Amino acid sequence: MSPVCLRFKKLFDRSLCLLALLTAGVAAPALHAQDFRKQVIYQIITDRFFDGDRTNNNPPQSPGMYDPTKTNWQAYWGGDFAGIQDKLPYLKRMGITAIWISPSVDNINVPMTGPDGKPVPYLFAPYHGYINRDFMRVEEHFGSSRNDWKAFDSMTAAAHADGIRIVLDFSPNDSNLTFTAEHGNLYDNGKLLATYDHDPQGMFHHNGMLTNINDAYQLQYYNVFGLADLNQDNPTIDRYIKDSIHQFQDHGVDAVRLDAVRHITWGWSYSFANSVYSYKPSFIFGEWFMGGPQDPFYSDACKFANHSGMSLLDYPFAIAIRDVFANDKGFSEIQKMLDREDRNFAHPLDLVTFVDNHDIPRLLSVKDNRHRLDEAEALVLTARGIPVIYYGDEQYLHNDTDGGRDPYTRVWMSSYDTHTVGFRLVQRLAALRQSNDALAYGSMQMLQIEPDVFVFERRFANDVVLVAINKSEAASATIPALATSLPPGNYRDVLTGLMDGSRLRVRRGAGGQSETGPLALPPHSVSVWQSARSASGPEVGSIGPTIGQPGMQITIAGQHFGASQGSVLVGSAAAAVRSWTDETVTFTIPAVPPGQYSVRLRTAQGSESNPVPFTTIENRLIPVTFTVDNVPLLPGGSVYLTGNTVGTGQWKTDPSIAPGPFLCPHSPTCFLDISVPAGKALEFRVFLIARDGSLHSERGGKHAYAVPNSGTGSVTVDWQR
Ligand code: NOJ
Repeated sequence: MSPVCLRFKKLFDRSLCLLALLTAGVAAPALHAQDFRKQVIYQIITDRFFDGDRTNNNPPQSPGMYDPTKTNWQAYWGGDFAGIQDKLPYLKRMGITAIWISPSVDNINVPMTGPDGKPVPYLFAPYHGYINRDFMRVEEHFGSSRNDWKAFDSMTAAAHADGIRIVLDFSPNDSNLTFTAEHGNLYDNGKLLATYDHDPQGMFHHNGMLTNINDAYQLQYYNVFGLADLNQDNPTIDRYIKDSIHQFQDHGVDAVRLDAVRHITWGWSYSFANSVYSYKPSFIFGEWFMGGPQDPFYSDACKFANHSGMSLLDYPFAIAIRDVFANDKGFSEIQKMLDREDRNFAHPLDLVTFVDNHDIPRLLSVKDNRHRLDEAEALVLTARGIPVIYYGDEQYLHNDTDGGRDPYTRVWMSSYDTHTVGFRLVQRLAALRQSNDALAYGSMQMLQIEPDVFVFERRFANDVVLVAINKSEAASATIPALATSLPPGNYRDVLTGLMDGSRLRVRRGAGGQSETGPLALPPHSVSVWQSARSASGPEVGSIGPTIGQPGMQITIAGQHFGASQGSVLVGSAAAAVRSWTDETVTFTIPAVPPGQYSVRLRTAQGSESNPVPFTTIENRLIPVTFTVDNVPLLPGGSVYLTGNTVGTGQWKTDPSIAPGPFLCPHSPTCFLDISVPAGKALEFRVFLIARDGSLHSERGGKHAYAVPNSGTGSVTVDWQR
């Protein structure tokens, strides 16, 4: 809450005050990179957003890939960093506080053609940014033909000045296509670094094309879409990728959307996240494309989100949302999904939620009904998780060719109307996220679930938001009185009737608890009611990151920390505080033994906050390949490792904690990449879990391995019979 709003909180509704500040141009609060729960992210396909600099459309080093007619959907259309900068006032007015931009590293300079010399179907020019050639430079179509940082820096500085963070899409799984154009070759700031066709140092994996997406080994070590799969365990590639992301952090990137995490060596990605957080405050979420709980790698995805230090895009929730709003399924689908995710994910509030993105048809291409899109967006903006709005959804843009599939989901941003219902909806709910902490940090309780009706409440400390959605095309719904945490009183719809919402009266019920009167919900309506009252003491709503070593900078956010500096305790150890405001505190992890801790904040007046969990690890993480020979593999069995570090499970054999399963493409040899603490005298054992759940341990003593202090490592042991 802005201090200005706090001062006037008796006179003004807090959300109106925030909205007023946003539009009056009062300086935005300082950016706190790690507290992403408070943000509304707007996903932009940089090439398709706005052409702010025509001089970079057909650059000399990569000519012929630009289509000014915008009819070749596989060509560049002219959008660039300058264009994003030009449109920041539009985004700021919508209340957007973070923009997710396309991968921005230098992409290949030659059009992609097949053996017949014709463009490869679905590929021609890398307008989307996923066909990398040089991770140390910026793409010329987005910046300038000098491949320099000028336009990028200018956009970033302008965004920050507007209180908007930069989320970079980053795609280190691969370089470019092996069979055409630049044949996978990789450059380091213009200098050839690696050649796919002649690779004596093993900078790439050479396993051919991914053919079986149900095979964990193929997923991580084969070429996705024919893109040359980088070997992140090669020390040169490991350093190069980490140097690249640090360079982007130096150029103002606040957060990372890590592309294709289920294809990047899973264990290596832990060290990537650790390296980003150790370098500068950040937030990372991965793209683990999956169908939902029935996905064969659902439990691997949960384990990854719970232990890697990075969150994930919430695909299961998005699929349920699309089923409900576009395919007319009932709201119980969403309830089941959220209940399940609450059980499976340690940090559900950090999951990054969305309705649409560039890889799936826009909802309007599936069901051409604007009300339904608005209702789905209202849900994403008020439910638990960090919401993403896909560019153009607020303008109802869609192209339904080929069912709206890629590339037709990447339309040209042809309209910037600030009066659409979609625009105003985001504007009001983004302002509410700033003024009422229930949206960012609160629990989510489902109060009424019917096929077409969904009523739920968010609550954090004394902040409450109640949301009622009726998605029926024609029928009104009457909901009986519901118990609520809203205090008795009369409530206006936060959306002021934008989506046919109504007023609400809350009274004290017979048992003394607040309850609503019966709710009449018109068809296609969304009502949002809220109450934000000062909590009596400090309340912590988020901690980021959730895992790290002594010395790492951590942010906690919430409310009522007080203006004067108090203290932060990690367990019982006092942490060095680096900055302190009423809502955000940064501190460094003290030298405590590794393990699980409760972090508490104590105000200068001595009031103590609620505890939040944090995991302390021993040291920076180094990726190490563990190979075990002669494993007595049982059919359907899986191999795991446990050891004397937090990341290796501290001798626990629970498969949701211990690293594994190992990959055994050349049985009886199995291997696994695990990120382990630099310099650690590691002790470990390997064990098997059979199909029936029984555990089979190695005999003999523990294995020992001295983890290197830098680079990458490898160790090979024999299964001890
Ligand atoms: C997932 C991205 O979202 C998609 O657009 C891209 O083509 C693939 N990863 C390959 O990098």
